[in-house]
This record gives sequence, structure tokens and C-alpha cells, in this order.
Amino acid sequence: MDEWRTYWKATTDSTNADARDGRPGDVFVADFQTAGRGRLDHRWLAPPGVNLMFSAVLDVAGREPAEVATLPLAVGLAVAQALASLPAWQASLPRLSVKWPNDVLADGRKLAGILCERNGDAVIAGIGLNVNQTEFAHELAARAVSLAQLAGRPFDRTAVLAAVLKSLAAVHARWRAEGFAALHAELVALDHLAGREVSILQTDTDAAPVTGLCGGIQSDGSLLVGGTRLYAGEAHVISVGA
Ligand code: BTN
Repeated sequence: MDEWRTYWKATTDSTNADARDGRPGDVFVADFQTAGRGRLDHRWLAPPGVNLMFSAVLDVAGREPAEVATLPLAVGLAVAQALASLPAWQASLPRLSVKWPNDVLADGRKLAGILCERNGDAVIAGIGLNVNQTEFAHELAARAVSLAQLAGRPFDRTAVLAAVLKSLAAVHARWRAEGFAALHAELVALDHLAGREVSILQTDTDAAPVTGLCGGIQSDGSLLVGGTRLYAGEAHVISVGA
């Protein structure tokens, strides 16, 4: 993607819904969403004008479904690498990680969530990134964090968006040209779950949760848990491994 076309609204229902009318290269941004959506039918709530909520339309024409299923991890990688490249990301700030299948964490707390949805020959990559929020609802406070909380100062949202889009364009181009396997080593370096005892709720089936030592993200985008490769689910850390 040489250049993104960015459409910024004050209010919308969901930027992922806006993006359904978009073309590859379009990015729909909103200061506020009245019906923001998260994965697994969760809601995505954020106060107006403080965070980034946007959806980028990515071309996946001609790719096999199994390869398309790896795109959320690639998007997570792009977000994490963009944030790590921000000038403000000093050594004193906590390590960023990617939690399979597609959360970006700092210090174990969620900095960004990603909702990828197939739309014909494209994938809508919806990204909610906590930028300048300084307070979270009581039930989220221990699990969510923003850039501003980490750095102790506000960030320019436009500059953060530009960094993420630059990184997303580069990662998407590599994903298209070389496949997910070419990105695998970079994800391994950021893998939040590898080496931890985890429980994975299998959200695509009624099967029981899979619990065990996590062997990490594999080169096909699956997560290895106790010898089983999982391709979808919701991950919970039980304890940190040795
Ligand atoms: C998750 O962690 O469950 C995914 C959250 C994705 C939220 C973003 S905000 C921009 C885009 N529009 C939406 O309605 N959802 C995504």
C-alpha cells in the first residue's frame, strides 16, 4: 500500500461497519463510536476524542483462507512494531508483546485490540488503541493501559496513527509477498503466551478449554498448547512458566 486514504469522522457507529463500503487502502477513523465492537461479540467502549479507533481495508485477493486467518497476528505485529518505534518509547517503558490471537499488551495490560473481518476480497482490520485515556472502568483498570499512562504524558493521536499505518503498510506488503511465515520470527520475539501455563477457550466449537504449557505462536499462525495446535480461541494465562 503506497498511500492510505484516510476518512476521519467525529462520530460513527463502528468504523468496521463504515469500512464495509471501502476499498483496499481506505482507512476509516472516528473520534467516538456509538456501537464499537470487539471480538466475540464484546463491545468496545472508549470516551470521545482520546484514543484511536480505526479500520483499514486490506487486500487479501487470491489468498487461501488459512493464510487470511493469519492476518490478525500480522496486524498485531504491525501495531506493536509501530509503537516500539515511537520516539517516546524509551527503554524505561515496559516491553510490548502480542497476545495470540491479536491483542497488543504492555506490561501484561491491553494497549490495543484488533477485530479483523472478511469482506469479499478484503479484510477489514479494526484497531482500537488506548492512547490518551487516563482512567478505565473499574473492571478494566487492572487489565487495560494507555500510552499516556505508560509515558506519563499525552500523545499526538495523528502522529501515532501515522506510525501505525506506516508499519501496517509495510507488514501487509511483506505478508502479501512472502506469506505469514516470513513474519513468524518477529512474532516469536513478541509472543506473550509462550512459556506460560494457559487455558484456551475454543470459541469456534463447543469443545472444552485446552489447558497446558504454551509452546507459542507457530509458523502457520496457530498456538501450540500442550502439543495441540489451536487456530481460534480466547487465551487466559494461568501462571507464568519457569
Ligand atoms: C477486541 O479486543 O476485542 C477487538 C477490539 C477492536 C476495536 C476496534 S475500534 C475500531 C474498530 N471498530 C470497531 O467497532 N471495532 C474496532
